[in-house]
Amino acid sequence: MKIAFHVFLHFSLLVFVSCYGSNGYDPLENALKIQRLKRTTPNHESKEDVTAENSYSPVYMGPQDGLKDADKISELPGQPTGTDFDQYSGYVTVDPNHGRALFYYLAESPVNSSTNPLVLWLNGGPGCSSFGNGAMMELGPFRVSADYKTLSRNKYAWNNVANVLFLESPAGVGFSYSNTSSDYQTGDKQTAKDSYTFLVNWLERFPEYKTRDFYITGESYAGHYVPQLSQLILQNNKITNQTVINLKGIAIGNAYVDDETANTGMYDYFWSHAIISDEIHEGIISNCNFTEAGNITTACDDYQGQARAARSNIYFYDIYAPLCSSSSNSTPSISDFDPCTENYISTYLNTPAVQQSLHAKPVQWESCSQQIGLFWTDMPFTVLPVIQDLMASGISVWIYSGDTDGRVPVTSSRYSIDKLQTSVKTSWYPWMYEGEVGGYVVGYQNLTFVTIRGAGHFVPSYQPARGLAFFSSFLEGKLP
Ligand SMILES: *[C@@H]1O[C@H](CO)[C@@H](O)[C@H](O)[C@H]1NC(C)=O
Ligand SMILES: *[C@@H]1O[C@H](CO)[C@@H](O)[C@H](O)[C@H]1NC(C)=O
Ligand SMILES: *[C@@H]1O[C@H](CO)[C@@H](O)[C@H](O)[C@H]1NC(C)=O
Ligand SMILES: *[C@@H]1O[C@H](CO)[C@@H](O)[C@H](O)[C@H]1NC(C)=O
Ligand SMILES: *[C@@H]1O[C@H](CO)[C@@H](O)[C@H](O)[C@H]1NC(C)=O
Ligand SMILES: *[C@@H]1O[C@H](CO)[C@@H](O)[C@H](O)[C@H]1NC(C)=O
Repeated sequence: MKIAFHVFLHFSLLVFVSCYGSNGYDPLENALKIQRLKRTTPNHESKEDVTAENSYSPVYMGPQDGLKDADKISELPGQPTGTDFDQYSGYVTVDPNHGRALFYYLAESPVNSSTNPLVLWLNGGPGCSSFGNGAMMELGPFRVSADYKTLSRNKYAWNNVANVLFLESPAGVGFSYSNTSSDYQTGDKQTAKDSYTFLVNWLERFPEYKTRDFYITGESYAGHYVPQLSQLILQNNKITNQTVINLKGIAIGNAYVDDETANTGMYDYFWSHAIISDEIHEGIISNCNFTEAGNITTACDDYQGQARAARSNIYFYDIYAPLCSSSSNSTPSISDFDPCTENYISTYLNTPAVQQSLHAKPVQWESCSQQIGLFWTDMPFTVLPVIQDLMASGISVWIYSGDTDGRVPVTSSRYSIDKLQTSVKTSWYPWMYEGEVGGYVVGYQNLTFVTIRGAGHFVPSYQPARGLAFFSSFLEGKLP
């Protein structure tokens, strides 16, 4: 705890804007630094198990009667007329003793809602909001306009083909909260448990979804959340007599799943995309040992610092995109995503009338909570064994990657897949969308890998049409 606190003080001087991209803010890197310090400090706790415990402890079930109706959103301020789907949002209590509750937003499909699958979406961080980032910036039905007040329809929203449930996770993120402040020191295990408790209670509130096909999707640090929650669901489906969750598959995008490949893949990507010099790349290769037992030497740290400086003037979540701070909004870019979108969202979600319409408690809403990431308690070095478990369980497992992301780049995903040691069933080929290459696909034994061409870290923001095409294929269980 001492270390985390010390580092917190240090970081709090450096990081003042908690929004992706601004001033190089990087929630994942901040959390990882603390974990590395813990690993290299003598007497740190012994290694975390990579698999969730097998023991079953009873899951809290709260009364849900009447809460669905109360959660129905009549209208979001500034919403376009003719909105033809139902939206719900509110809190599900996951621990009544601590007063801990998770906030969700459900966007149902305009057509075929009663038969379309249910899809859970999770953002990462750790500490980033699935509603503000996932729903409002990426794949949800609305985008906030540059007037900070009105919403426009996202033509390529994922609720066109599924009922999409966005969960703010864990407590302390977005609108989710706890009345017990020590709950904000949390980690992977508690996050999975709370998300599971959320789901079984939410399914009581929305019983029509109990037997529906269910999928879990997410990106970045949700590369931990999605496999861990899925594993817990499959375990609890076997040993409890409560709701069986009808989990059919998972998809994780630009996902942080293994610390070694996250590092090696990132620096190789920086070098191959002309962001760092030969000298920095060679310096990293010869001085850094990114394996779990490897030491991070001073020389390695120094080269990593040089790499950070080299990438600091570009938006490394989408390396060819313009910055919000650039004076010209008309900088030619490969996608027409407005780089200032996060500012519009932050203002909109902090408007009292908006919070009221969402049934949210009045709070200062943040895109990413720094506190959550900096005090993160447990994080396995790799979740590849969990993914291997899921692959063998018969559910469908997809790894996708926007190929212009520098944060968890496509090289990291490919190195991780190498470590999974699965064999190719359908060799690499380009998938087509509207007459152009949408990306590339490889079908492996029990695993599908898909790239989305020209998309950064937040795939549906930068390539909305290709993103929806890939997502539809995933739900249909067919290679794109
Ligand atoms: C948290 O405390 C407030 C104020 O006492 C209370 O209204 C609310 O229900 C509590 N939250 C939960 C999840 O118990
Ligand atoms: C709705 O479902 C019907 C029957 O499965 C299908 O033919 C139709 O294409 C679906 N419409 C949409 C918009 O998904
Ligand atoms: C579920 O199992 C628990 C423990 O075995 C038991 O106490 C409880 O009554 C069971 N509930 C139902 C609905 O069968
Ligand atoms: C990295 O460190 C590990 C653990 O000490 C060691 O086994 C491995 O050989 C090292 N790798 C390289 C390339 O030096
Ligand atoms: C890592 O550092 C520790 C302490 O400085 C040292 O004892 C150990 O030999 C180092 N391991 C490697 C693989 O360099
Ligand atoms: C694929 O799944 C089957 C069972 O469903 C399992 O026997 C096999 O080991 C798995 N292979 C890989 C590479 O995951």
